[in-house]
Amino acid sequence: MNQRISDTAKSFSAPDYVKHEKLKAWVAEVAALTQPDAVVWCDGSQEEADGLCAQMVQSGSLIKLNPAKRPNSYLACSDPSDVARVEDRTFVCTASKEDAGPNNNWEDPAKMKETLKGLFQGCMRGRTLYVIPFSMGPIGSPIAHIGVELSDSPYVVVNMRIMARMGRAVLDQLGVDGEFVPCLHSVGHPLEPGQQDVKWPCNKTKYICHFPETREIWSFGSGYGGNALLGKKCFALRIASTMARDEGWLAEHMLILGVESPAGEKSYVAAAFPSACGKTNFAMLIPPQALDGWKVTTVGDDIAWIKPGKDGRLYAINPEAGYFGVAPGTSEKTNYNAMATLKENIIFTNVALTDDGDVWWEGMTKEAPAHLIDWQGQDWTPAIGKETGRKAAHPNARFTAPARQCPSIDPNWEDAAGVPISAFIFGGRRSTTVPLVFEAFNWNYGVYMAATLGSETTAAAGGAQGIVRRDPFAMLPFCGYHMGDYFNHWLRMGHRIEHAPRIFTVNWFRQDADGNFMWPGFGENMRVLKWIVERCRGRADARQSTLGWMPKFEDIEWTGMEGISKEQFEALTKVDNDAWREELKLHAEWFEKLKERLPKELALKRELFELGMVD
Ligand code: GTP
Ligand code: SPV
Ligand code: MN
Repeated sequence: MNQRISDTAKSFSAPDYVKHEKLKAWVAEVAALTQPDAVVWCDGSQEEADGLCAQMVQSGSLIKLNPAKRPNSYLACSDPSDVARVEDRTFVCTASKEDAGPNNNWEDPAKMKETLKGLFQGCMRGRTLYVIPFSMGPIGSPIAHIGVELSDSPYVVVNMRIMARMGRAVLDQLGVDGEFVPCLHSVGHPLEPGQQDVKWPCNKTKYICHFPETREIWSFGSGYGGNALLGKKCFALRIASTMARDEGWLAEHMLILGVESPAGEKSYVAAAFPSACGKTNFAMLIPPQALDGWKVTTVGDDIAWIKPGKDGRLYAINPEAGYFGVAPGTSEKTNYNAMATLKENIIFTNVALTDDGDVWWEGMTKEAPAHLIDWQGQDWTPAIGKETGRKAAHPNARFTAPARQCPSIDPNWEDAAGVPISAFIFGGRRSTTVPLVFEAFNWNYGVYMAATLGSETTAAAGGAQGIVRRDPFAMLPFCGYHMGDYFNHWLRMGHRIEHAPRIFTVNWFRQDADGNFMWPGFGENMRVLKWIVERCRGRADARQSTLGWMPKFEDIEWTGMEGISKEQFEALTKVDNDAWREELKLHAEWFEKLKERLPKELALKRELFELGMVD
C-alpha cells in the first residue's frame, strides 16, 4: 500500500532552464498518469545519445556495430510483431465522423481519450519518461512547427535526435509560451519491481491516435517507425495536413529534389510515391554518365511542407533532418548516395548482422555473406535462406541516417524560405496499365490523376502485399481528414497561385508478360526527369495521348543507354484502352466511397475521360 502511494505521488521537477509553464504542467500530468520511475528532459547532445545507446547495449536492446566498419552505429531488432506501421490501429478522432472521412478509422475524441487514459494509466512504471522537444523544419524558420514527444523508449529518443532537430535549442525557441504539438508515446510495457525487461518492449494492443482539432497525438503499444517517431507521419503528415488545409498550404508525402542542367539552370520538383516505392532512390538519383553535366541534389526523401510564396510560386521545405529509409534493395548500384550516407552515425533496425559486426540486407550485395545472424537473432546462411525462404533482413527493415551526411544534399536544404517547385510528380507501383510517364493537360486533370493514383501494396504497411489499392497522392494512410476535402483543397490551391507547378505521372514498375520490369529505373530515371524539367521550361516536345502529354521516342535522351528499342519504348508508354476502361471502373468505385465530399469537378472529369476512352 505504501509502495503504491509513493509510486503515484512521485514528483519530478523540470530543470531550471525550462520556463514554459504549460509544458511543465503537461509533463507533470502525464507523469502522474503513467507513473514512470524518472523523468529526463532531453538536451539533444551527443553525450546524451551516447549514454542512452550504451545503456541500450547493456540491456540488449541495441548491438553496437564494429566501429572500424561502421563508426558510432547500432542495430536494433524488433519484436516480430512490431515491424511496420499499423494502419488498422491508426485513428483520426474528430468531433464529427464525417470530418475524418472513409480514409481514416474514427472514434469519438472523448471516448478515445477514456480508452487511452485507461491504457496509459501506470504504463511507464519501472521506466523513464523522456521529454523530447523537437522542431519539424529548421529551428526558428517561419515554416517550422514544434512538437514535444513524451516517450518511455530510449530508442525513440535516439531516433528522434536524427530525424528532427531535437533538444535544448528547441526549448529555447519555445520560450515561455510558444506553441507545441503534444505527442504522447508509450511502448505499453510497464515493469514491475524486479521484472526483467525484454529487448524490444511493446504491447499487443496498439493505438495510434490523432486529435486534429486539438492538435494532439497519443500512441500506445508500438516502438516502430511511423508508429513511434511521432514527428514524422503523425505530426508532419496527419496533424500538419489538417493545419495546412486550415491555413492554405500543403503537407505532403513527397520527396524534394533539385535538378541542375549542364548550363547551370536549377529546377526543383516534388514527387509523391507510396511507401517503399522509390522516393529515397529518386531523391538521391545519380544521373547516368552519358548525361554528363546533369546533377541531382536532395532536399528531402519523404515529407514536404509546401507554402505559397509572394512571387506566386510554391515553396517547399523538408521538415525532417534525417532519413528513415527502406534498407533492403539499397546498394552501391541502386542508391550509391544512400550507401555513402550510411557510413557512420546510423541506427539500423531489423537488418542482419555479419560475423565481423557489420550489417547486411537482401540486395546490398549480389552474393549474401556465408553466415549471418538474421533480424530475429537466428543463424542464417544462403542455404538456410533458400531452404526456408526466410529473409536475413525484414522486408521493411530501415536505417535512420542524418540527412547532412548525404553526399547529394542540396545546398539549400535548410533554407527557411524553402525551394521553388516547378513540377509535381506522382507515381505508384503498377505492373500494368500505367505508362512510363505523361503530363497532365492542366492542374485539375493532374489533381484527378493524383486522386486516383493506384499502387501495389508493400511491406511498409504490414499486411498483404502486391494488391492494387487506391493511394491518392500517396497520402491514403497519412491524410488527417476527409479525402474528398483534401482533393478540394488541392483543386483550390492550384487556382490560388499564379505559377502552379505542372503535374506528371510516372511508373517505373511496368512489367512484361514474363514479369520482368520493362524499365531499368534507378539512375536511368534521369532521362524521364530531364524530359519533365525541360517540359517545365517549355523546351521538350511531346505528343498528345488520351492520358496526357507524352514523350515521343526521340523526345527522350537515349545517349549511353542500350536496351530500350523504339518498340520497347512504345510498349512502355502504350495506353491500353481495354485496361483503362477497367481502370476507370476502379476509379468509379473509389469515388463512390468518397461521394459525400468528392468535388463534382473530379466526378465529371471521370465521366468525360470515360467518353474519351472509347475507341
Ligand atoms: P517510404 O520510406 O516507405 O515512404 O518509401 P520510399 O518511397 O522512400 O521507398 P524507397 O525509396 O526506400 O523504396 C525502395 C523500393 O523501391 C525498393 O524495393 C527498390 O528496389 C524500389 N525502387 C526504387 N526505385 C526503383 C526504380 O526505379 N525501379 C524499380 N523497379 N524499383 C525501384
Ligand atoms: C512510410 O511507411 O511511408 C515510411 C516509414 O516512410 S514509417 O515512418 O514507418 O511510416
Ligand atoms: Mn513514407
